Amino acid sequence: MARVAVVTGGTRGIGEAISIALQDMGITVAANFAGSDEKARLFTERTGIKSYKWNVADHQACLDGCALVAAELGPIDIVVNNAGITRDGTLMKMSWEAWNEVIQVNLGGSFNMAKATFAGMKERGFGRFVQIGSINGQAGQYGQVNYSAAKSGIHGFTKALAQEGARFGITANAIAPGYIDTDMVAAVPAEALAKIVAKIPVGRLGQASEIARTVGFLVSEDGGFITGSTMSINGGQHMY
Ligand code: CAA
Repeated sequence: MARVAVVTGGTRGIGEAISIALQDMGITVAANFAGSDEKARLFTERTGIKSYKWNVADHQACLDGCALVAAELGPIDIVVNNAGITRDGTLMKMSWEAWNEVIQVNLGGSFNMAKATFAGMKERGFGRFVQIGSINGQAGQYGQVNYSAAKSGIHGFTKALAQEGARFGITANAIAPGYIDTDMVAAVPAEALAKIVAKIPVGRLGQASEIARTVGFLVSEDGGFITGSTMSINGGQHMY
């Protein structure tokens, strides 16, 4: 039977590319989203991939959402924790709400999704977690104490989860994308973005498909010996 994957934030940006790449591998994909119903509907129309609405920051919503996916598509073998938001601003200007929201979505979401799915993977002796971290979790980024802390936390979360899952056939890995050509990066002020791109040795933004193909490799049957790793995909911007 086909493996079943949940991709959080799976209807747009990097998540959309991941959902499509996994579907191309013959995996049954559930694309989670929290924002626009209309965009999700168009995504499903375009790709044939079912979309499921819940907020990954909401613990109970993750338990309920994953139970619904399992009932409709089958037990969840693969979780790609991709959902993420930015609320950029220097520390002096950042509100507690902007801090907390980013921590709850970007880091808390991975915990909530793991709580919803780990036990089933353990029972069946197979599981794959891929967390989408960030270059800014590795190197820090001016104007992003919230985002950098959450993404850095994801890298630690992944290594701990990898240790807990190893003897049950469950792997956990992280990808640390650099600046990828998505709506999130397009929202960076043009002047700030131009300075960032000037520091990327390959001289361009990355493409979402370049992240998605790596996720596909990590979740494949061949990926069983890769666990606890962080794959940097950033055009050479930060060699870590
Ligand atoms: N290093 C040092 N100083 C910097 C700096 C940097 N990287 N960026 C800005 N500054 C300085 C400015 O020169 C300015 O100094 P002066 O007051 O002396 O002139 C000061 O900081 C304030 O700058 P702004 O006027 O731009 O302040 P702001 O509060 O309006 O905005 C900012 C600051 C939010 C950081 C804005 O510059 C910004 O959005 N920067 C980009 C942040 C970023 O890279 N976000 C990534 C989003 S995409 C993503 O997160 C995906 C991923 O994983 C990679």
